[in-house]
Amino acid sequence: MEKTGVPHVIFLPFPAQGHIKPMLNLAEILSHAGFQATFVNTEHNHHRILHNTDIHDRFPKFQFKSIPDGFPSDHLRSDLLYIRDFFRSCRVAFKPALRELLISLKEEKEPCQPPTCMIADGIMCFAIDVAEEFEISTIFFRTFSAHCLWTYFHLSKLIEEGEVPFQDENLDKPILCIPGLENVLRRRDLPGFCRTENADDPILQFFIKETSALTRGTGLILNTMNEIEGLMITRLGSFFNKVYAIGPLHALKSRINENSSSSSTSSDGILWKEDKKCLKWLDSKPSRSVLYVSFGSLINLSGEQILELLHGLVNSEKSFLWVIRPDLIVGDATIGDILKEQETGRLERGLIVSWAPQEEVLLHPAIGGFLTHSGWNSTLESIVAGVPMICWPQMADQQVNSRCVSEIWKIGFDMKDTCDRSIVEKLVRELMDNNREEMMESANKLARLARDSIEEDGSSCINLEKLIQDIKSMSSSLTQVHISG
Ligand code: UDX
Repeated sequence: MEKTGVPHVIFLPFPAQGHIKPMLNLAEILSHAGFQATFVNTEHNHHRILHNTDIHDRFPKFQFKSIPDGFPSDHLRSDLLYIRDFFRSCRVAFKPALRELLISLKEEKEPCQPPTCMIADGIMCFAIDVAEEFEISTIFFRTFSAHCLWTYFHLSKLIEEGEVPFQDENLDKPILCIPGLENVLRRRDLPGFCRTENADDPILQFFIKETSALTRGTGLILNTMNEIEGLMITRLGSFFNKVYAIGPLHALKSRINENSSSSSTSSDGILWKEDKKCLKWLDSKPSRSVLYVSFGSLINLSGEQILELLHGLVNSEKSFLWVIRPDLIVGDATIGDILKEQETGRLERGLIVSWAPQEEVLLHPAIGGFLTHSGWNSTLESIVAGVPMICWPQMADQQVNSRCVSEIWKIGFDMKDTCDRSIVEKLVRELMDNNREEMMESANKLARLARDSIEEDGSSCINLEKLIQDIKSMSSSLTQVHISG
């Protein structure tokens, strides 16, 4: 089939909020560059997005496609077990479905050109096998920080050096075998799955293989910026032909939309409906007086943990806005039950919502701090907004991110591995009162750097232009698409 040179890019995110959202931002940015975009979700997530986001209004230039994830319709998809299920099953069920989709895209005559490039999530490396059958180039997009990805590249070394599994229970022992992070990371700052007793642990081994497979792509996209993670990005360059650090994507997308007078500037809830009432509540609060509390889209907490957090927040006597997703609490207790057990009236300073417009919340002048699980999107959104953090990481990249926040960038406190009301209360007061000036100064400095990166002469804009040119050259260098299998 002849091509006219307009690049058609397939976007394949991992099926979770923290992966879909930055991929959507990237797709929106590239569609501004004139590219055709096909965005592929699992059927389940496609229906959720249709329900919670006006995709045709927000993404008029995309075509959305969905493929089955291989599980029955009543399979539980809202918790971490689903992620593990998906890791296990994706090569068996999702991979053939992706192949079917590519065949149908090839056969489609209008309105799109045949795809020449796939941007696939960096934990879905099987996608490159399928793309290669169709002579489509694959660029991987890893949604983690550069510090974290560099750590993942050293997982095998950690095993070889006898660091993982840990030889004793001292979680404060420094990790010395990751170049550039010597004396920064301790055992407790390694990704959560390193706390295993077995070097053959399937999750640990999955990430070792998947991280190494990333280098098969023609390049690597990172949602970060040279201004903040330059040294780690340079180090990662030793594994890849091209590294495109083009973050923070949410801020870059907003800036491009503003410049093009696009109506689409909102972040939208993606997989959840946003409760925008909280913005009005924030309007009534003094500047920098409210703590925002949210633990992202995946982690689950026990009723006891919620109770400790709740007491700590209430005892700090600060106002707080807390996102409690319907599936946040494990077990049968709801937040209503937990509150009922408490003295009445004690929540007068707090507001609980099930899903917030997080980007807008963090940019609201009433917000003075963020108690976060240190997911990379949340961390970036907080950095851009200049909001200092209390980090309470639970898994994967979050342990590394929180260490960077507290130890390298000095824009927050790391509360990892504790959940005690007195510590919560103390850290909230430290963040919002005692260390406020110091924290705000570092947070403002980092926010400026993040914003510089997305200016026209900033590093992320320059890297984006390189990415655009490289994708264009893929569509001009190939003139025929055929299936070789
Ligand atoms: C997951 C991992 O946990 C994270 O560490 C990894 O970097 C990406 O995948 P998640 O846990 O959901 O993501 O955290 P995070 O990366 O912070 O992403 C959450 C996203 O949901 C953010 O973009 C945030 O703005 C959005 N969000 C969260 C809302 O819009 N409203 C909310 O109420 C809560």
